[in-house]
Amino acid sequence: MELKEVIERRRTVRDFKNENISDEILKYAIENAFKAPSYNHLREWDFIIVKSLETKLQLIESENLDKEISINELTKVFENEELIKKEMYLDAIPKQKKMILNAPIVVIVVFRPKKAIEKVDRIYDLNCVASAWCCIENLLLSLAERDVFGVTYIPQHTDKIKKKLNIPEELEIAAIIPIGYKAENAKILKQKEINISERIHLDCWK
Ligand SMILES: Cc1cc2nc3c(=O)[nH]c(=O)nc-3n(C[C@H](O)[C@H](O)[C@H](O)COP(=O)(O)O)c2cc1C
Repeated sequence: MELKEVIERRRTVRDFKNENISDEILKYAIENAFKAPSYNHLREWDFIIVKSLETKLQLIESENLDKEISINELTKVFENEELIKKEMYLDAIPKQKKMILNAPIVVIVVFRPKKAIEKVDRIYDLNCVASAWCCIENLLLSLAERDVFGVTYIPQHTDKIKKKLNIPEELEIAAIIPIGYKAENAKILKQKEINISERIHLDCWK
């Protein structure tokens, strides 16, 4: 498949079919993820492959995703936001629990931070996060090439999750990625259109 075709095919999917993903597809995507650039040349990433309901429930509990969500309240919260952003949040927020439960696999991407997160005071110190996200994009593109899609969920209660899943204290979680085949009725949101020529600045900002 052409690179452009794969890039266009990769879209965030939060509604999954009840169908397993082969080990071969997962291995292919993780091998490609490890080919991403890394700031210190060490590729300090690990992948936890979650399949069990028990671990999924631990993620949901750690993140307090069990709460009832009122669509009316949510609509008010995003009332003054740009329509395309509002549509995304109104679709995404109510699906956070279900997407973890229904995905046949949830991939947790773990990385080694350069500095303790609470000590970070320069963008430069976030090189480790940037590298982890290069690796995540390779993973998502490689899955999309094989018709498997995902959604990058960023946990807020990482300490809880690390304890429950036995992740070494010195490591961090970049993202929790439910992956699977698209459900028949999967909602794919419209992407914001960008006037690219306005975003390219020659020699300096203009
Ligand atoms: C850093 C980052 C954090 C995100 N966090 C979440 C999240 O917590 N939950 C979620 O459902 N989607 C999350 N997303 C997915 C975005 O909503 C999605 O990528 C965006 O709407 C664009 O859609 P597209 O990927 O189909 O182009 C996140 C994406 C990124 C890059």
